[in-house]
Amino acid sequence: MIILKNIHKVYDDDFQALKNINLEFQKGEISVLIGPSGCGKSTTMKLINRLIAPSSGSVLINGQDVKGIDPVQLRRSIGYVIQSIGLFPHMTIGRNVAVVPRLNKWDTARINRRVDELLGLVGLPPEVYRERYPSELSGGQQQRIGVIRALAADPDVILMDEPFSALDPISREQLQDELVRLQQELHKTIIFVTHDMDEAIKIADTIVLMKDGEVVQTGKPEAILRHPANDFVRSFIGQKRLQAESMNEIPLVDEVMVTRPVTALPKRGLAEAITVMERRRVDSLFIVDRDNRLQGIVSIYRVLDQYGEENKTVSDVMQPVLYSVRTGTPLPAAVELLSRHQLSNLAVVDENNRLAGLITRGSVVRHLADGYLQEAAESPVEEV
Ligand SMILES: Nc1ncnc2c1ncn2[C@@H]1O[C@H](COP(=O)(O)OP(=O)(O)O)[C@@H](O)[C@H]1O
Ligand SMILES: [Mg+2]
Repeated sequence: MIILKNIHKVYDDDFQALKNINLEFQKGEISVLIGPSGCGKSTTMKLINRLIAPSSGSVLINGQDVKGIDPVQLRRSIGYVIQSIGLFPHMTIGRNVAVVPRLNKWDTARINRRVDELLGLVGLPPEVYRERYPSELSGGQQQRIGVIRALAADPDVILMDEPFSALDPISREQLQDELVRLQQELHKTIIFVTHDMDEAIKIADTIVLMKDGEVVQTGKPEAILRHPANDFVRSFIGQKRLQAESMNEIPLVDEVMVTRPVTALPKRGLAEAITVMERRRVDSLFIVDRDNRLQGIVSIYRVLDQYGEENKTVSDVMQPVLYSVRTGTPLPAAVELLSRHQLSNLAVVDENNRLAGLITRGSVVRHLADGYLQEAAESPVEEV
């Protein structure tokens, strides 16, 4: 566990960057420091590996004041990942990852094993990437190297200062996912700085929200979202998230259904039925009475099979509709029926059994696609 006790930090120009910070970072958790630019996140983080000394107060790691630990030793025992990657451009990827193990004088065989293991951990085949140079990798790949370099000597504590901020949104999400996955295996004590609430919610066990050198609120993401301490937190959580939540609302069949299914009255003849199906390019017809109440369904196969019987009407050959849903049904329930019974479509009826519409596989896909396209239009992806 890492404890910050009564920390004040006044920089040389008399600027007070931190005001009475008291924090505990739990072992094996990802704690996320978040807040607007300049609120003191990086300053707080750098106290832990002694890149910055507090003006007053103390930093304890497992009960030991960092003041009493040799700073070089301390930094080798704490992983550190920063936004600007900081890979050595003239060293191969393998060499870059091996920096701390080499400083710690591991033997070559152990170092090589470790490098390969770590590359594998982030999905970069060692035989392909070990001998490459940083400039030959994409931004996302370089930042993966930054992360595994911090893990190389298996430190218990890892500090990550906006490690993914410079990446395009897609790489960024991938790295967030990877970090969460890695952490499930590794259980490191990670302190992660970001100014992006989405990122914090995605990866944090605990969020520490800062403003103007002070801690405003600490808690689980869920607790902070549900119970923001004040207007600042509320606005920081943001409008965007409220929209996101409404987008995540589960749609009803009413929003998704095709509203003019192809129907026929019961007294239609079979030749008429075939003509309608051909013209409307469907392979079945819903049979409804004059009040649009659902009576049954006929498929093209059924009609062709009975076609020889000139006097028959669709009501003679129709079959009962085995599955239908009521208006107001959540879409997932309808999709579940479609998929469980291998249906090509599903009738939506109102409380009087009147046919209101039709859920088809196509209508579901279109609805999902619309949602994504809208989302994509609202957050344009940078060109990569
Ligand atoms: N070496 C320094 N000298 C003077 N002021 C500094 C120094 N480093 C940071 N600051 C100031 O302290 C505040 C907090 O900085 P920092 O911890 O880097 O913020 P954050 O990481 O939250 O963006 C900022 O206003 C910044 O300008
Ligand atoms: Mg910073």
